[in-house]
Amino acid sequence: MRIIEHIEEMRSWSETERRAGRRIVLVPTMGSLHGGHLSLVRDGKRRGDRLVVSLFVNPTQFGPQEDYASYPRDFERDRGLLEREGTDVMFSPSAGEMYPAGHQSYVEVGKLGEQLCGVFRPGHFRGVATVVAKLFNIAQPHAAIFGEKDYQQLQVIRRMARDLNLGVEVVGHPTVRAPDGLALSSRNSYLSDAERQAALSLCRALNKAEALALAGEKESGRILDAARAEIEKEPLARIQYAKLCHPETLEDVEKIESEAVLALAVFVGKTRLIDNTVLKA
Ligand code: PAJ
Repeated sequence: MRIIEHIEEMRSWSETERRAGRRIVLVPTMGSLHGGHLSLVRDGKRRGDRLVVSLFVNPTQFGPQEDYASYPRDFERDRGLLEREGTDVMFSPSAGEMYPAGHQSYVEVGKLGEQLCGVFRPGHFRGVATVVAKLFNIAQPHAAIFGEKDYQQLQVIRRMARDLNLGVEVVGHPTVRAPDGLALSSRNSYLSDAERQAALSLCRALNKAEALALAGEKESGRILDAARAEIEKEPLARIQYAKLCHPETLEDVEKIESEAVLALAVFVGKTRLIDNTVLKA
């Protein structure tokens, strides 16, 4: 596995591979890899001839009160995991390489980035869209894979790729869960044992909503009340939002028409967790 830290080297590697007619797949990550990331990596191996995995903790998507400085980082462990999966290139630029002094251009996302998490994390999706656009321009992939776990992020990136004609196929990948149902996340490492138990209330809420939808319930109000009730049973959990929204526009829906996304953001102790599921009428 080749480790590339510099933008020009990454770009020239990709240009050579493209000229040789190879299909490049990119999996962007912030490192601290877990089974969710590795599932994207394996999918990436199958979808192309060359696999690039980027590892970059992107400062522009963290708010001033958020965990940029303390975000878990373990370069050596990540390197070993990616090597074992048969990754061709691990691209791990420094913050100074990606955002040199004087950097001031950003991708402005529209309404999609202002809803759900966007209400509580202003500027977050602008930072995500900017770094992903930069990674696409640097690594020049044919396709890139993103997890449905970060449902809004996936929709923002799909929209950006379409709106800005980036020419990259954006592929969504199903959420990977621990055997007890907890969605894998780098931030799970912040949870104490008691908090981890309380965090199971998120997937219990999603399961409850799925069961109601399956039984024919279509009213948002009733589905959301049932989901909230599951989480409110846990004294360590505090709901930031629970919303039922249109799967593409992410606007609130009153009723499930054909499909709707139930999206949750919940603080468990000091750790903010998100999860979601698509409900079908
Ligand atoms: P990060 O949180 O490291 O996630 C990298 C990718 O892994 C994202 O596409 C995310 O949706 C996916 N992922 C994380 N947990 C998952 C799970 N349990 N199941 C399936 N996929 C999962 O998301 C980011 O980094 C950043 O915002 C990034 C896109 C790299 C831009 O900086």
